[in-house]
Amino acid sequence: MQITLPDVSLVLLIGVSGSGKSTFARQHFAPTEIVSSDHCRALICDDENNQTVNQDAFELLHLIATKRLAHRKLTVIDATNVQSQARQFLLGVAAAAQIPAVAIVLNVESTIAFQQNEQRSHRIVDQEVILQQQQDLQAALANLSQEGFHSIYVLTTPTEIAATSILREIIH
Ligand code: CTP
Ligand code: MG
Repeated sequence: MQITLPDVSLVLLIGVSGSGKSTFARQHFAPTEIVSSDHCRALICDDENNQTVNQDAFELLHLIATKRLAHRKLTVIDATNVQSQARQFLLGVAAAAQIPAVAIVLNVESTIAFQQNEQRSHRIVDQEVILQQQQDLQAALANLSQEGFHSIYVLTTPTEIAATSILREIIH
Protein backbone atom coordinates (compact mmCIF):
# COMPACT_ATOMS: atom_id res chain seq x y z
CA MET A 1 0.00 0.00 0.00
CA GLN A 2 1.13 3.53 -0.65
CA ILE A 3 0.43 6.07 2.04
CA THR A 4 0.28 9.68 0.96
CA LEU A 5 1.01 12.23 3.64
CA PRO A 6 0.45 15.96 3.34
CA ASP A 7 4.04 17.12 3.85
CA VAL A 8 3.07 18.80 7.05
CA SER A 9 0.88 16.45 8.98
CA LEU A 10 0.46 14.91 12.38
CA VAL A 11 0.70 11.15 11.96
CA LEU A 12 -0.80 8.96 14.65
CA LEU A 13 0.47 5.42 14.64
CA ILE A 14 -2.24 3.27 16.19
CA GLY A 15 -1.68 -0.29 17.34
CA VAL A 16 -1.30 -2.59 20.29
CA SER A 17 2.02 -3.17 22.01
CA GLY A 18 4.18 -5.36 19.78
CA SER A 19 2.27 -4.50 16.59
CA GLY A 20 5.42 -2.90 15.19
CA LYS A 21 4.79 0.86 15.54
CA SER A 22 8.32 1.83 16.58
CA THR A 23 9.82 -0.43 13.91
CA PHE A 24 7.55 1.12 11.26
CA ALA A 25 8.36 4.64 12.47
CA ARG A 26 12.11 3.99 12.31
CA GLN A 27 11.80 2.63 8.78
CA HIS A 28 9.90 5.58 7.37
CA PHE A 29 10.69 8.69 9.38
CA ALA A 30 13.68 10.60 10.70
CA PRO A 31 14.41 10.11 14.42
CA THR A 32 13.59 13.75 15.17
CA GLU A 33 10.18 13.41 13.47
CA ILE A 34 9.14 10.66 15.87
CA VAL A 35 7.70 11.54 19.25
CA SER A 36 7.42 8.37 21.26
CA SER A 37 5.68 7.81 24.57
CA ASP A 38 8.45 5.38 25.57
CA HIS A 39 11.10 7.97 24.88
CA CYS A 40 9.15 10.62 26.80
CA ARG A 41 8.92 8.28 29.82
CA ALA A 42 12.66 7.67 29.60
CA LEU A 43 13.38 11.40 29.37
CA ILE A 44 11.49 11.92 32.62
CA CYS A 45 12.65 8.98 34.73
CA ASP A 46 15.31 7.03 32.77
CA ASP A 47 12.91 4.09 32.39
CA GLU A 48 10.78 3.78 29.25
CA ASN A 49 8.65 1.12 30.94
CA ASN A 50 7.70 3.10 34.02
CA GLN A 51 3.93 3.56 33.60
CA THR A 52 3.68 5.60 36.82
CA VAL A 53 5.10 8.65 35.01
CA ASN A 54 2.55 8.45 32.18
CA GLN A 55 0.88 11.73 33.02
CA ASP A 56 4.14 13.68 32.81
CA ALA A 57 5.30 11.67 29.81
CA PHE A 58 2.13 12.42 27.82
CA GLU A 59 2.25 16.10 28.81
CA LEU A 60 5.76 16.14 27.37
CA LEU A 61 4.65 14.26 24.25
CA HIS A 62 1.83 16.74 23.67
CA LEU A 63 4.13 19.71 24.26
CA ILE A 64 6.72 18.47 21.76
CA ALA A 65 3.99 17.74 19.19
CA THR A 66 2.48 21.20 19.72
CA LYS A 67 5.84 22.93 19.31
CA ARG A 68 6.78 20.92 16.22
CA LEU A 69 3.44 21.62 14.54
CA ALA A 70 3.79 25.33 15.38
CA HIS A 71 7.01 25.16 13.34
CA ARG A 72 5.13 23.26 10.63
CA LYS A 73 7.18 20.12 11.02
CA LEU A 74 5.78 16.71 10.18
CA THR A 75 5.38 14.82 13.43
CA VAL A 76 4.78 11.15 14.08
CA ILE A 77 3.25 10.02 17.35
CA ASP A 78 4.59 6.61 18.33
CA ALA A 79 2.20 5.55 21.09
CA THR A 80 -0.55 2.94 21.13
CA ASN A 81 -3.25 5.61 20.55
CA VAL A 82 -5.90 2.92 21.04
CA GLN A 83 -7.86 5.03 23.52
CA SER A 84 -10.19 7.63 22.07
CA GLN A 85 -9.13 10.21 24.66
CA ALA A 86 -5.51 9.99 23.51
CA ARG A 87 -6.52 10.45 19.87
CA GLN A 88 -8.94 13.28 20.66
CA PHE A 89 -6.26 15.24 22.42
CA LEU A 90 -3.82 14.84 19.53
CA LEU A 91 -6.51 15.69 16.97
CA GLY A 92 -7.11 18.86 18.97
CA VAL A 93 -3.40 19.71 18.82
CA ALA A 94 -3.44 19.23 15.03
CA ALA A 95 -6.64 21.23 14.57
CA ALA A 96 -5.29 24.12 16.65
CA ALA A 97 -2.27 24.26 14.34
CA GLN A 98 -4.52 23.80 11.27
CA ILE A 99 -2.50 20.77 10.25
CA PRO A 100 -4.12 17.56 8.98
CA ALA A 101 -3.97 14.45 11.14
CA VAL A 102 -3.40 11.07 9.52
CA ALA A 103 -4.05 7.71 11.17
CA ILE A 104 -1.86 4.72 10.32
CA VAL A 105 -3.34 1.67 12.04
CA LEU A 106 -1.25 -1.47 12.48
CA ASN A 107 -4.17 -3.83 13.02
CA VAL A 108 -2.26 -7.09 13.39
CA GLU A 109 -3.74 -10.17 15.00
CA SER A 110 -3.08 -10.57 18.71
CA THR A 111 -0.97 -13.67 18.13
CA ILE A 112 1.41 -11.67 15.92
CA ALA A 113 1.63 -8.94 18.56
CA PHE A 114 2.34 -11.57 21.25
CA GLN A 115 5.11 -13.14 19.16
CA GLN A 116 6.71 -9.83 18.27
CA ASN A 117 6.42 -8.63 21.83
CA GLU A 118 8.22 -11.71 23.09
CA GLN A 119 11.10 -11.12 20.69
CA ARG A 120 12.06 -8.05 22.67
CA SER A 121 14.65 -8.51 25.35
CA HIS A 122 14.22 -5.21 27.18
CA ARG A 123 10.46 -4.97 27.42
CA ILE A 124 7.78 -7.64 27.41
CA VAL A 125 4.21 -6.47 27.89
CA ASP A 126 1.66 -8.81 29.52
CA GLN A 127 -0.60 -10.59 27.05
CA GLU A 128 -3.61 -9.40 29.08
CA VAL A 129 -2.58 -5.82 28.49
CA ILE A 130 -2.27 -6.48 24.77
CA LEU A 131 -5.73 -8.11 24.69
CA GLN A 132 -7.24 -5.06 26.41
CA GLN A 133 -5.51 -2.80 23.90
CA GLN A 134 -6.82 -5.03 21.11
CA GLN A 135 -10.39 -4.51 22.38
CA ASP A 136 -9.88 -0.75 22.50
CA LEU A 137 -8.43 -0.87 18.99
CA GLN A 138 -11.39 -2.77 17.55
CA ALA A 139 -13.74 -0.21 19.12
CA ALA A 140 -11.56 2.55 17.67
CA LEU A 141 -11.72 1.11 14.16
CA ALA A 142 -15.49 1.41 14.20
CA ASN A 143 -15.32 5.13 15.03
CA LEU A 144 -12.13 6.34 13.42
CA SER A 145 -13.82 7.72 10.30
CA GLN A 146 -15.90 10.07 12.47
CA GLU A 147 -13.04 11.44 14.54
CA GLY A 148 -11.77 14.08 12.13
CA PHE A 149 -8.75 12.46 10.51
CA HIS A 150 -7.72 13.77 7.09
CA SER A 151 -7.02 10.17 6.06
CA ILE A 152 -6.93 6.73 7.62
CA TYR A 153 -4.80 3.78 6.56
CA VAL A 154 -5.33 0.34 8.05
CA LEU A 155 -2.57 -2.26 7.61
CA THR A 156 -3.39 -5.75 8.77
CA THR A 157 -0.59 -8.21 8.04
CA PRO A 158 3.19 -8.09 8.52
CA THR A 159 3.54 -8.56 4.75
CA GLU A 160 1.31 -5.60 4.04
CA ILE A 161 3.12 -3.50 6.63
CA ALA A 162 6.51 -4.41 5.14
CA ALA A 163 5.30 -3.56 1.62
CA THR A 164 4.02 -0.11 2.57
CA SER A 165 5.68 2.97 1.17
CA ILE A 166 5.16 6.57 2.15
CA LEU A 167 4.89 9.48 -0.23
CA ARG A 168 5.05 13.01 1.08
CA GLU A 169 2.85 15.32 -0.88
CA ILE A 170 3.99 18.91 -0.99
CA ILE A 171 0.99 21.22 -0.75
CA HIS A 172 1.56 24.74 -2.10
N1 CTP B 1 9.31 -6.65 14.76
C1 CTP B 1 9.75 -7.50 13.76
N2 CTP B 1 9.29 -7.33 12.49
C2 CTP B 1 8.44 -6.33 12.20
C3 CTP B 1 7.98 -5.48 13.21
C4 CTP B 1 8.43 -5.67 14.50
O1 CTP B 1 10.53 -8.39 14.02
N3 CTP B 1 8.02 -6.19 10.95
C5 CTP B 1 9.80 -6.87 16.11
C6 CTP B 1 10.63 -5.70 16.60
O2 CTP B 1 11.98 -5.84 16.28
C7 CTP B 1 10.40 -5.74 18.07
C8 CTP B 1 8.99 -6.34 18.21
O3 CTP B 1 8.71 -6.94 16.96
O4 CTP B 1 11.32 -6.63 18.69
C9 CTP B 1 7.93 -5.31 18.52
O5 CTP B 1 7.96 -4.26 17.55
P1 CTP B 1 7.88 -2.74 18.00
O6 CTP B 1 8.08 -1.93 16.77
O7 CTP B 1 8.79 -2.49 19.15
O8 CTP B 1 6.36 -2.68 18.48
P2 CTP B 1 5.54 -1.46 19.08
O9 CTP B 1 4.23 -1.44 18.39
O10 CTP B 1 6.37 -0.23 19.00
O11 CTP B 1 5.31 -1.89 20.59
P3 CTP B 1 5.14 -0.94 21.89
O12 CTP B 1 3.77 -0.32 21.80
O13 CTP B 1 5.22 -1.89 23.04
O14 CTP B 1 6.24 0.07 21.88
MG1 MG C 1 7.18 1.02 20.46
